[in-house]
Amino acid sequence: MAKKKNTAWMCQSCGQRSVKWAGYCGSCGEWNTIVEEVIQSEEPPRGIGALAGASSKPVSINKVSFTETPRFPSGSLELDRVLGGGIVPGSFILVGGDPGIGKSTLLTHLASRVAESWGPVLYVSSEESPQQVRLRAERLGAMADTFLVMAEADLDRIDEYRKGLNPKVLIIDSIQTVYKPDIPSAPGSVVQVRECAAQLLRIAKNTGTAVFIAGHVTKDGAIAGPRVLEHMVDTVLYFEGERHTQYRILQAVKNRFGALEIGVYEIGDEGLIDIPNASELFLAERPVGASGSVVVPIMEGTRPVLVEVQALVSASYYQNARRTTTGVDVNRLQLLIAVLEKRVGLPMSNSDAFVKVTSGIKIDEPAVDLGLAMALASSFCDCPMDPHTVVIGEVGLAGEVRGVSQLEHRIRESQKMGFQKAIIPANAGRVKVDSDFKLTGVRTLVEALQVVGIGKQEK
Ligand SMILES: Nc1ncnc2c1ncn2[C@@H]1O[C@H](COP(=O)(O)OP(=O)(O)OP(=O)(O)O)[C@@H](O)[C@H]1O
Ligand SMILES: [Mg+2]
Repeated sequence: MAKKKNTAWMCQSCGQRSVKWAGYCGSCGEWNTIVEEVIQSEEPPRGIGALAGASSKPVSINKVSFTETPRFPSGSLELDRVLGGGIVPGSFILVGGDPGIGKSTLLTHLASRVAESWGPVLYVSSEESPQQVRLRAERLGAMADTFLVMAEADLDRIDEYRKGLNPKVLIIDSIQTVYKPDIPSAPGSVVQVRECAAQLLRIAKNTGTAVFIAGHVTKDGAIAGPRVLEHMVDTVLYFEGERHTQYRILQAVKNRFGALEIGVYEIGDEGLIDIPNASELFLAERPVGASGSVVVPIMEGTRPVLVEVQALVSASYYQNARRTTTGVDVNRLQLLIAVLEKRVGLPMSNSDAFVKVTSGIKIDEPAVDLGLAMALASSFCDCPMDPHTVVIGEVGLAGEVRGVSQLEHRIRESQKMGFQKAIIPANAGRVKVDSDFKLTGVRTLVEALQVVGIGKQEK
C-alpha cells in the first residue's frame, strides 16, 4: 500500500508508528490495528512548567516558589477519597469504564454538587443531547443553575465557550467523541485522542480548571486510544462492577495527588450512593460455615477492607485440570496449588480449582496468599474454616509464611467488623489488639492449617 503525503502508519491500539502497513503491531501484539493517520506539524515538546507559564531555568529546589492549592470537595466522600482528598484545581482526570457502567451518572452527580457549592461547571456531552443530560440530571436530583450543559464535539468551539465561562470544573463526556477540526482523522483515532487530550491538559494547567474526561475501554478492559493518554493525565480512575449487581467500585490506578484508593457505590434509580463501610457490604452474603470460604483483610490504598475469598476444588474429568480465577491472578492460584501439593502434601494436581473474590474487587497484593491457600485446602478437604477468623500472610515457595505491611490496620478493621481471631505471620512482632481478640502467629502453611484443623486426614 502506498503512503500518502503527511501521513504515517500508526497502531490504533498503542500509538506506535510503523514505516509501512502491516497486519500485526510488533509493539503491542494486536492484529489489524495499523491504520494510516494524517500527522500534524509537531510542536516541540514542552514541560508542564512551561505550560503553566513558569520558568524552565534550573533552580534550587529550596527556591521553587509554591502556594499550596486548596482542594475542594466533590460532594461525594468516596470520590474525594479516590482523588486523594478532594479535587485539585487544574488537575486532569480520566474516568474509564465499560459501556453503561455509570460514568455519565458519576460525572452528572459531580457537576451538580460542585456547581451548587463552588462555581460554574461546564458539562460537555458529545455523545448525548442536552435533553438526555437533563433527563438524567432530573432523575438523579442533580439540577443546579450553574450546571451548564453543552452538546458539542468540536474542541475548538468547546474551548471558546469555556473561555467565557471560566468554569471550576470542565467535564468532557467522552474523549473518544470530541475532535479537533484541523486534524483530518476521525474522532476516537489515536491522533485525535492524543491531540484533544494535549489541548485539555493545557487548559487544565493554564487556567486552574479541573478537567474530567470520560473514556471508553476496549474489550480487554484498557482505556481505548493511545497508551500515552494515561501518562498525560494526573489521575486515572476505573469505574467497575458486575453489570447485573447494584455495586460499583471506583478504583484509582494512577494518582499524582494521593495513594491508590477505592471508592464503593451502590447504583440505583436515584444514581450513585456512597458506601462508606465497604467491608460490611462485601461480607453481607457470606455463606457462614461453608468450606472454601476465608475472610482476608486487604489494603486498598490507606483503607483496610475485608473481602471473602472463595475456592472450589473438585475432581477433574479432563486430562488437564481446570484452574479459573475471578479477582486474583491465575498464576498465583497455580503457584499455591503447587505449594499445597509439595509442602503440605495435599494431592491437588488432578483437581479442578476455581477461585473467586466476591464483591468484584481485584486483589494483587501478596497478603492474600495465605487466605487463598487455606480456602483451597478447606475446599479440598471439605472442612469449613471458623467463620470468626481472618487470615493474613504471604506464602513463599518453601511453604513459609512471610510478613505483610500494615498489619495493625488490617487487624483493627477485622475487630471493627466483629471478628475474634486472626492467623498472622509469626514474625509480625508486637501488634496491639483488644484483649478479647486472639492472634495466632504461624511460620508455615502447614502450621496454619494445623491451627484450624484442616488437612489432618490427608497427612
Ligand atoms: N431511567 C433510568 N432509570 C434507572 N436507571 C437508569 C435509567 N437510565 C439509565 N439507568 C442506569 O444507569 C446506568 C449508567 O448509565 P450511564 O449513562 O451513566 O453509563 P455510562 O458509563 O455513561 O455509559 P456510556 O458508556 O454508554 O456512556 C445504566 O446502565 C442503567 O442501569
Ligand atoms: Mg455516558
